Amino acid sequence: MVTGGFRSRHSIEQDLSSGAADIVGLGRPMCLIADAPDRLLAGLQSLPRYEDRLGRLPSWLGGLKRLKIAKAMDGFAAIYWFYEQLWLLGHGGMADERLPILKTFMTADKRNKAIMRTRTAMTNNFVTLAENEVEP
Ligand SMILES: Cc1cc2nc3c(=O)[nH]c(=O)nc-3n(C[C@H](O)[C@H](O)[C@H](O)COP(=O)(O)O)c2cc1C
Repeated sequence: MVTGGFRSRHSIEQDLSSGAADIVGLGRPMCLIADAPDRLLAGLQSLPRYEDRLGRLPSWLGGLKRLKIAKAMDGFAAIYWFYEQLWLLGHGGMADERLPILKTFMTADKRNKAIMRTRTAMTNNFVTLAENEVEP
């Protein structure tokens, strides 16, 4: 199985027919187009390369890319943009390719923290309940 960067029907067909791969994985396009494989099988020639359109650091901050922390933030912002699309698909049924990257990063980060707080509270609650059920 091979995954990473497959967007065109032609390259997928080539790799499968040459035996280079038995299965090809699609990741980022499916965060917005959940039926991407069906569309390719139906004849669509290529899927959007959303990652190329993500503006990330503005060009005037380009020098920051030399800093490891800025590079890491840049990468996180891009992956969070895809997380947010999955969230939209799950909650509203529609992804939105116009989402702004930095604002989306903040929204997704805030939500992730809230989810983690709820999970921790639930786990603590469960542990307390379990402890209270244990016979002395
Ligand atoms: C939202 C999201 C979550 C992912 N989670 C994982 C993961 O948990 N484990 C993993 O090995 N790869 C993960 N990946 C990487 C994908 O499996 C895939 O290798 C990568 O996105 C490259 O393929 P693509 O160019 O089709 O997106 C994730 C990718 C995305 C976009």
